[in-house]
Amino acid sequence: MSVASPAGPSPSARPGWAGGQRPSGVPGCGTGAEHAALAALRGAHPALAARYSSALRQARAVALGKLWVALSRERIDGLVPSAGAGRAMLLLPDGTRLSAPSAITDAFAEHPADLAVTLHPATPHPAPPQLIDHPVALLTAAMVARPHRADTDRWLQLAAELGDSVANHALSLVGESWRRERLASAGTPGDGSLRWAARRAAANPAFSPLALFEQAVVDGHPLHPCARVRSGMTVAELFTYTPEWAETVAVRIVAIARSSFIEASFTQVPFARRGMTDLLRRWHPRVVDAAEAHLRGVRREPADYELLPVHPWQLCRALPDRCADALTDGRVIVIPRARILARPLLSLRTLAPATDRRAPHVKTAVDIRLTTATRVVSPATAHNGPMMSALLAEICRREHGFGGRFLSLAELAGGSYRPARDEPLDAAASLAAIARESPERHTDDGEVALPVAALAARSPHTGRPLLAEVLDELASVRPHACSDTAERFLAGYCRCALPALFTLLSRWGVALEPHGQNAVVVLREGLPVRLLYRDFGGIRVSTARLARGGLRPPAVIGALPTDDEDELRAALFFPLVDTNLSQVVAALARVGQTDSPRLWRLVVRCCRSTYARLTADPAIAVQASRDEAVLFGPTLRSKSMLRVQMSADPHASQWVAVPNPLAAAG
Ligand SMILES: Nc1ncnc2c1ncn2[C@@H]1O[C@H](COP(=O)(O)OP(=O)(O)O)[C@@H](O)[C@H]1O
Ligand SMILES: [Mg+2]
Repeated sequence: MSVASPAGPSPSARPGWAGGQRPSGVPGCGTGAEHAALAALRGAHPALAARYSSALRQARAVALGKLWVALSRERIDGLVPSAGAGRAMLLLPDGTRLSAPSAITDAFAEHPADLAVTLHPATPHPAPPQLIDHPVALLTAAMVARPHRADTDRWLQLAAELGDSVANHALSLVGESWRRERLASAGTPGDGSLRWAARRAAANPAFSPLALFEQAVVDGHPLHPCARVRSGMTVAELFTYTPEWAETVAVRIVAIARSSFIEASFTQVPFARRGMTDLLRRWHPRVVDAAEAHLRGVRREPADYELLPVHPWQLCRALPDRCADALTDGRVIVIPRARILARPLLSLRTLAPATDRRAPHVKTAVDIRLTTATRVVSPATAHNGPMMSALLAEICRREHGFGGRFLSLAELAGGSYRPARDEPLDAAASLAAIARESPERHTDDGEVALPVAALAARSPHTGRPLLAEVLDELASVRPHACSDTAERFLAGYCRCALPALFTLLSRWGVALEPHGQNAVVVLREGLPVRLLYRDFGGIRVSTARLARGGLRPPAVIGALPTDDEDELRAALFFPLVDTNLSQVVAALARVGQTDSPRLWRLVVRCCRSTYARLTADPAIAVQASRDEAVLFGPTLRSKSMLRVQMSADPHASQWVAVPNPLAAAG
């Protein structure tokens, strides 16, 4: 059996890799991106370069698994998944068959580093089977087997992004191991990293357990084959700005003339009116002093300007071009000596100020493609945030704070540059920011907040699954059998998440997007006690349901308002079930010595009991029972990863039907 290069079986399509070469330290035939990453690593951290080779094997295996799942789910261009002889199969339109270990179909399985797919060429041209161990080779096999080979440029672009993502992921894994080493030199905690973090936080208000655990999520989005794509950043910049490498980033400040500034801040009771500059003055007074001094020094009146935090990458690499005229004529003025040291969180562009973990986080615009989207902040996002925050605060008040188990983090202020008439409109989204309440304002002593995605990550101290440490802590306080501990954890988690999220949807028409990065769980002695929600970018709001509930719909703009019930439900159920709960259940089954069906049955019981309460209320019985029926339907609407990645409009979601684990367990 031969081994396919990343170029796949057809030498006619090779998007920029050095197939055939086998440089030292790079396993197999590396892509150009892999060689570039290794060269950059050798330059920046020569002592770490020896780790790249094994990191690369792991990164390739992870992406190979995700790509298999995405291809099977999306059935692109006539590809058909099946199974036979204990192997997973993909039948390509030209008769080529691909087979793989059956675990490859499990989206949240952990694959061995030597994971490989076997390609059986179509019979008219018999050839020996080939082993494929690189996702780019798998994608190429699917690409060349298409009947009409339309959109080849988009496929090649996807292949290039996939190759970049694998190389970046390998670097992330090296960064992870280096951080573990640095933390170990500060003493490895005997009782797990959560307790260690809680103790350090009690002694030091600057220390952020949340940031520590956000930075531990080095694998990125669990379903996206291009999870670590960072298009627009050079490899060297990854070392400076990404959460797996950089402890802190120096956020910069610009002053924007009020006439060129679109402000978004709370204007509704119970929040007093605050803008971004006021907020900076409260938390970073030296930055505001420096800005005012500089403005006076250049003969500008500080009161005529509003201040905005800017990501340093954006300032150096995007704004000189995007806002050239405004930077020249003084509508936008860079403040030279003002910086906010902040920790990059797992989204890369949202940062937590390093001086105080309770200080608002700053969501910045970066013209970099991360997974699917270029991560700018649209004026609609900046505008909607404070309004949605006020609405959710009011709903939470009416729901009696969901018993203290659920809270939505407020977006306190936002702002964007207002381009002049002769400037491109999209410059507004490249110079914009949002200040968001820190999750760590809502943790008590002894509690630790971490993004749900971190539960499936490895401990930054020991490399063990973080969830294994969580369950150890839970078991040490209330000893039980390991599987019971896993169920107790899941029951606690469901109690925090499901009643609130389903009530928000079915009573109030607010579909949040609680994937593992937007959902932050607060743990006390290993038990989930609260869920904190952040990010209103991808949510949906039904004005009809809100009005029926007696609330005036907020004046939100863009894609948020909808009265399409299918869209509304999918907006919540996809991130909740297909990413969040699926990832938590899989991680629990792995470390908790229990099986997934048993855990899903527990989730089903919590969903059913929540809906029993909601459908018992005649005022919302009809809409709630329709929501419940869709939640338990045989299939769920899941977001496409590959089609959207290839589309000209990646902001428009595309949906595929996937088997519903709740239906299977119910
Ligand atoms: N479940 C997940 N696990 C890890 N990363 C995720 C997950 N879901 C989304 N992401 C990543 O998080 C980023 C989205 O966060 P973003 O919306 O930009 O910031 P914020 O939530 O702070 O407003 C994307 O880069 C995406 O790839
Ligand atoms: Mg988000």
